[in-house]
Amino acid sequence: MSNAPAPVRHYLEFTDLSADEYAHVFARAAEIKRKFKAYEKYHPLADRTLAMIFEKASTRTRVSFEAGMYQLGGSVVHLTTGDSQLGRSEPIEDSARVISRMTDLVMIRTYGQDKIERFASHSRVPVINGLTNEFHPCQILADIFTYIEHRGSIQGKTVAWVGDGNNMANTWLQAAELLGFTVHLSTPSGYEVDQAVAGLRSADSYKIFKDPEDACRGADLVTTDVWTSMGFEAENEARKKAFADWCVDEAMMQVAKPDALFMHCLPAHRGEEVSAEVIDGPQSVVWDEAENRMHAQKALMEFLLLGRVNA
Ligand code: CP
Ligand code: NVA
Repeated sequence: MSNAPAPVRHYLEFTDLSADEYAHVFARAAEIKRKFKAYEKYHPLADRTLAMIFEKASTRTRVSFEAGMYQLGGSVVHLTTGDSQLGRSEPIEDSARVISRMTDLVMIRTYGQDKIERFASHSRVPVINGLTNEFHPCQILADIFTYIEHRGSIQGKTVAWVGDGNNMANTWLQAAELLGFTVHLSTPSGYEVDQAVAGLRSADSYKIFKDPEDACRGADLVTTDVWTSMGFEAENEARKKAFADWCVDEAMMQVAKPDALFMHCLPAHRGEEVSAEVIDGPQSVVWDEAENRMHAQKALMEFLLLGRVNA
């Protein structure tokens, strides 16, 4: 038998876990959430430290990882570009070598996916993508966990994506290919998903619709995101014009299945990508979705550090 250490598992894209591993992580998220609600102490990550690096703003990602890590018995180091040498051009490879000698796990929110890949390839410990321009896997992990809680398996279901062909859209598409559901995509012209950037094997798990209402027809879940993602602020005015018809409103929810859910990763802009009636209405599960970031990521951290636990 070889004495070589097991290879480090990173979570940089949704496809970094198999369908079978997702089944395990979703089951663990449910159990970890149950323990949290029952005030049952669960400290499997005692003495472990998570480094969180933020190059973009965050509310949910920071709170969910930080609170979640403490609840698992571990501790957290919080770094931003502005208060670390990362903002003063220390090479990302050197930062990875140093930070991963002192901590057990790293979460990074940054710009290009190439940056997180370079960090991961020089890290001794697992690296988690807390959002890049291309992907937001932790969010889709929580979204699918939320769907399962409300409606059961997502396999064979239809998710309508209304809006930008951005990091969220790319990650939904990866998830559809891996977990066996379909995405109905409607994006304004010029803001389409790039199949190569999304890293898809084929076009079999999505359908493109010009009219966002057509994308919502018959959907089990309708979801959207901001018109302008972080890092694209210079395009704000042009996007406001291009996206004017891509607002999820009651007419769109009307043509979805009667029991369709509405999700939004948040932060939301009422009156832009979603109407107040929809996001604050009966089909919206956005607050469960936000809370579930924490439970799902606790299960993810447990899996990356300890493997298949059944406690
Ligand atoms: N949805 C999400 O990632 O939120 P934050 O930007 O607040 O972390
Ligand atoms: N697409 C958005 C998601 C924010 C959580 C962004 O990248 O800014």
